[in-house]
Amino acid sequence: MRYASITERLASLGSEKWAIHAEARRMKASGEPVIELTIGEPDIPTDASLLAEATRSMHSGRYRYSNGRGEPSVVAALVRKYRRRRPSVTEANVLCFPGTQTALFAVMLGLVEHGDAVLVGDPLYATYEGVIRATGAERILVPLKPENGFRMKAEDVEAAITPACRVLLLNTPHNPTGAVLSADELAEIGAICRKHDLWIVCDEVYEELVFDATFASPFDNPDLAERTIVVSSISKSHAAPGFRSGWAIGPAEFASRLLSVSETMLFGGQPFIADMTAHALDNPIGTSAAMRLSYKQRADRICAALSGASALVPLPPEAGMFIVVDVSATGMTGEEFAWALLREERVAVMPGSSFGSEAESYIRLSLTVPNDAIDEACRRITALAARSGLRKERRA
Ligand SMILES: Cc1ncc(COP(=O)(O)O)c(C=O)c1O
Repeated sequence: MRYASITERLASLGSEKWAIHAEARRMKASGEPVIELTIGEPDIPTDASLLAEATRSMHSGRYRYSNGRGEPSVVAALVRKYRRRRPSVTEANVLCFPGTQTALFAVMLGLVEHGDAVLVGDPLYATYEGVIRATGAERILVPLKPENGFRMKAEDVEAAITPACRVLLLNTPHNPTGAVLSADELAEIGAICRKHDLWIVCDEVYEELVFDATFASPFDNPDLAERTIVVSSISKSHAAPGFRSGWAIGPAEFASRLLSVSETMLFGGQPFIADMTAHALDNPIGTSAAMRLSYKQRADRICAALSGASALVPLPPEAGMFIVVDVSATGMTGEEFAWALLREERVAVMPGSSFGSEAESYIRLSLTVPNDAIDEACRRITALAARSGLRKERRA
């Protein structure tokens, strides 16, 4: 039987990036005591008030068909949220999706196709490649250089632009590096996007998990209003990834054109999830504050624990659920180190290469595990780094 080319474009993606995670799961299933620091799933439960609201809403009969834009309850809550950032926002700017991932997929489908190109920073969140390739567009990497703290620089964006470029896919706060772009940096990047008439799609799923830095967005810059689309969700902010509740906010014409794409894909969302999301957005719920505190403390804890190992250089994150550590002084690539760590020390981390070539000499550790597991993992990571130093000496 014949299949469409999208199945081939997406087939080669994914599995090898997650090989260490998959092997760690296999080892755990066979009883081995693996400490898993690979994926970033909030370790704090979804707030009871959100579960109560979803249940109340469902019991009140809110399980019928919805509409393509989103239930009025959640659309109104999103308008209130984004009006605090841009006063002119109305319902016409909003589209609801089941999570940031679906929002990204639909938005890209609405902006690019075969023959177009999308600029995206390297390292990049693992699913971006598939989201771009699904449309048939080409992906062009903008290096986020380790010497710049993995921050996107306007000159690096401009150097990567080709005539086919239509979109810059931004991610701030950034996964995997935790970098938070400042308003000035975004204005410089935005000026390049204006000059080359590019859309800016900005994934802000970690907006609520900024530690000490100040969150900024191209959406808040009036000069970029006509070209910026924000995608986000309650997955991280409210520790609610399984509810699959997200959105895209952009120019009214964009939202109106994308509405038919969304309707064709989804035929609406679940009203009880919409009510729960509205409740989450409208009420002060302590989940993100608790996560901010705990993830920042764990990042500091890792930096302190690894400070004795000169071959390990952590990059303190400004936000998010992860920390990246440069392991190049061990003589190994991030991938070699991560495999050795799993096999010799039973600690699973993501190799930086899973996110792109700029992070090849790094490993990424999740901050979503308890402190005692973090402490033990750091002890084992330090032990491996110390042994690799010895191996290097022997080789020399
Ligand atoms: C940068 C980034 N974007 C999007 C997502 C997916 O978010 P959602 O659960 O809203 O689809 C993740 C999840 O890890 C992420 O790290």
